[in-house]
Amino acid sequence: MHRRIFAPGALAAASLLLAIPASAASYTPGTPGIGDPYYPNYGNGGYDVSHYDLRLRYQPATDELDGTATILARTTQDLSRFDLDFLLDVSEVRVNGVKAAFAESGEHELEVTPKTPLAKGTAITVVVRYSGVPSTKTAYGFSTWHRTPDGAVAADEPEAAWWWYPSNDHPLDKATYDVSVAVPDGTQAISNGTLQSTSSKLGWTRYTWRQNKPQATYLTTLAVGRLDITTSTSEGGVPVVNAYSKDLGDNDGAARAGVERTGEIVDWLSGYLGPYPFGSAGGYVPNTTTGYALETQTRVYYSPRQFANGSNTSVVVHELAHQWYGDSVSLKGWKDIWINEGFARYAQWLWSEHEGEGTAQELADYVYASHPADDAFWTVAPGDPGPDNQFDIAVYDRGALAVQALRNEIGDDAFFAVLKGWPQEHAYANASVADFQRYAERVSGKPLAALFDTWLFQPVKPASAAAVAEAASVPVQPTSWKKIEATNDVHGH
Ligand code: TRP
Ligand code: ZN
Repeated sequence: MHRRIFAPGALAAASLLLAIPASAASYTPGTPGIGDPYYPNYGNGGYDVSHYDLRLRYQPATDELDGTATILARTTQDLSRFDLDFLLDVSEVRVNGVKAAFAESGEHELEVTPKTPLAKGTAITVVVRYSGVPSTKTAYGFSTWHRTPDGAVAADEPEAAWWWYPSNDHPLDKATYDVSVAVPDGTQAISNGTLQSTSSKLGWTRYTWRQNKPQATYLTTLAVGRLDITTSTSEGGVPVVNAYSKDLGDNDGAARAGVERTGEIVDWLSGYLGPYPFGSAGGYVPNTTTGYALETQTRVYYSPRQFANGSNTSVVVHELAHQWYGDSVSLKGWKDIWINEGFARYAQWLWSEHEGEGTAQELADYVYASHPADDAFWTVAPGDPGPDNQFDIAVYDRGALAVQALRNEIGDDAFFAVLKGWPQEHAYANASVADFQRYAERVSGKPLAALFDTWLFQPVKPASAAAVAEAASVPVQPTSWKKIEATNDVHGH
């Protein structure tokens, strides 16, 4: 509608608007997503978190979780309002000590409106008091909260945080953590990093964990249950903390025979990937019914099913390789998933070689030959697979094939320099597939655009078998193949 005549009131309002300083008018709400095209509403805009302090209490019998999250952040724009990603029931929010208005919106947004707008670059402290039964909450129709007979587990990718703490839920916003959880006496609580203290009072035991290196939200884990905690130190000096459900049944021996090799495998991986980036390592095996494993930072999550056929060092190698590729160096966007999975899979190939069960080249040849050109496998581009194929087998196997292709193109000296140099180059930060290409070009001195395009981006089987031996038929299956395949459970979903 065109207005030809301005009413006097409108004119007055317009001049009043002009009277407001330009800076005040620039206070706007932070966006409900951080800007990742795969998941438009994940994470949030307008601020950057530096630290989460989670002081919680969990009752396994009822699945009730309550507590206080204190979030230290800095605004990145003039901010009138901002979101956290969260599903539980909030009773109070304070920003810089002052009560703020809050409301639920979208699938998993908690909208916080501070009493006074926040100028860009301000350090803020956000306190969220909350409670709730995580297993009753869903977003987009699903839940990743796992209840077990003796407790619960939060470990999933990319969504895990919404069910237990409010966050800026995207790997771009990494932060340090103190996670302190009170559980009934006789029950244990596991999280990331080092166990700072335990204390008991009035029937509750409090476990206080500290992660002093930046950590992505999805890599922050919580496990409550009747757990047996073991501690040791690797030969290379890395403290190791592992935990096993006391109810693993027949999988108990195999789980321990795999996960107790964490220290040895961390030291072995350090030879290829450089110094271990964190102050502790380890894993835990709760009595969940899931099948996958997840590289939760310093404390890997393993489903008992990973050990149903005996100990499985290959899955331990995969998840520990992620501590460098995925955890210390996190992706910039979820499209960059190849940096995580291609290299964690390639580490399994190196371990196979170390164990005398097939060389990386033999595994590459086998992957190449066992997928004919019309196999849908080749339509998935590991360099940008799309959200529906983010964890497709091609991201792993074609992804590792791309790593072998790089190795053959630039030669072992440059390749192993890249493999070890990359985690240092971007330690505790974020990087993309494009960043990796630039880095490999810099270290090797070779242009690599065509190579990466062929192996990571074209939706067809590379015609040139430059990365692989020119075998007419499918080569003999490497001895390690079945063990590596057994670590693939997540792709069945
Ligand atoms: N990053 C995990 C791995 O490769 C895969 C994974 C675990 C996963 N849990 C998931 C992928 C849930 C999708 C959803 O070890
Ligand atoms: Zn992985």
